[in-house]
Order: sequence, then structure tokens, then C-alpha cells
Amino acid sequence: MNILFLADVFGVPGRRAVEEHLPALRERYDADLAIVNGENVADGAGITPKLADKLLAAGADVVTLGNHTYRRSGIGSYLEASERVIRPANQGALTPGNGMAVVEARNGVTVAVLSLLGHLFLDTPVSPWEVVDALVEEARAAAPVVVVDFHAEATSEKVALAAWLDGRVTAVIGTHTHVQTSDARILPGRTAAITDAGMTGPHDSVIGVKSELAIARMRARLPVRFEPAEGGARLEGVVVTCTDEGRAEAIETIRVPA
Ligand SMILES: [Fe+2]
Repeated sequence: MNILFLADVFGVPGRRAVEEHLPALRERYDADLAIVNGENVADGAGITPKLADKLLAAGADVVTLGNHTYRRSGIGSYLEASERVIRPANQGALTPGNGMAVVEARNGVTVAVLSLLGHLFLDTPVSPWEVVDALVEEARAAAPVVVVDFHAEATSEKVALAAWLDGRVTAVIGTHTHVQTSDARILPGRTAAITDAGMTGPHDSVIGVKSELAIARMRARLPVRFEPAEGGARLEGVVVTCTDEGRAEAIETIRVPA
């Protein structure tokens, strides 16, 4: 079976690209399941209930989030009720929402999707290492195919988690840094991995933000208000091919347009 994963959807250009291309991409890659990281869909920071519904309506089976999950009002109660839009599982027990989704793919296979936040260089409430083993056990009890979206800053942490989970999950897909890495690989235990799947959004930018604003904040260290860029809309992500038992066979990066 094939699983299509679209990386961090950024602002209006990213959301429009998903709406325009996701149905055709599902066909092209014969995708049984589509997972979309939507944490930057609301003008580059966070997600609203309405935008989450739009991503689902565009063809996402599961929407994952990240460190900007709670930037917009109303999302907490939405996440509390949603089974398909998930926040990082290590957000802490007092934070609303679910960290795992269990859904049926088009071919009838059950898939568990886990969202986790990295610990290095991010303000993460609970270390992912403290919770990941129990979560993976829970996921594997619920589904043969397990996909982990690891939303993290440091490449070392992303490579380390993929190695730790090798042989126990189908794929560990890195998100958050918005620059697609060239290390898509199948690990010895048949787990697919990539350090970062990229960004679905405006690529004429500094990871989604208007370049001049990002540069101004870095140069002068002034509190410049960020705005999403507009040009160079591109979808990025990966397609993971695996057996119905959850063993990865291939991982291919995608970039549309190339
Ligand atoms: Fe992020």
C-alpha cells in the first residue's frame, strides 16, 4: 500500500496547493491514505477549526500539527472532539486534543498516525523519549501500519528517533524545518525515514515567511511582524510504500512542481 504525506502546509498558498493538487496526487501515487501536516496553515502559524476542515475536505485523512498547534483560538475544543486532526502526543496531559489517530485506509488496512514534538531547541512540555515506547505499543495494538510525524528542530534528534523506532513502526517522517532533506531511506528493520519532508507552501521565501521580513528580524534583531510569502507555491512530502503488515518497502520524496 502507499501512504502520501504532505509536509508543513504554509498559509494560503500552501492550502490552495493542497486543494488544487491533492486529489490528483492521490491518483498519481495510488495513495491509500493521505496525511497532511497543517500546523502553519493559518497565515504561517497555527490552524483554525475551519482550516482543519478544509484540509480534510481537500482529501487529507489525517492532519498532524506541531509546536504552533494552539496559536489560534477555538482549536483546543476542536481538537478535543476530533479523531483525525491530532496534536503532538507529548504536549502534556492537561492540554486538549489527541496525539494519535487510528483510521482505515482505502485498501481496508488500519493505520495509526502518531504526532510527536522534538525536545531539542523547542519548548516541549514532555520529552518524546519518555512517552514514545508506550505510544508505539498502543499504536501497534491498534494497527499494523504505524506512521510517526516527528516535528522537531534538530536533525540529530530526528535521525536518533528514527533509529530507535526502526523495526517497530512503518515510517518516521520529520517535519518542522521546512527544507526537504535528501536522506529518505529504508532502515535495516524496514522502517522508512526522512529527516525533513519539506514544506507545502510559498518557496520564494525564508521557510514560508517573506524573505525581507525574516532577514530584517535577523539583521537588526527588531521585533518584525512576520507575513507569509506568496510566490513559488510548491507541494513537498513523501510517498511511503509498505506491506499491509506495516513493513516499509520504499520511500520517495515528492516535489510538485519539480
Ligand atoms: Fe513547527
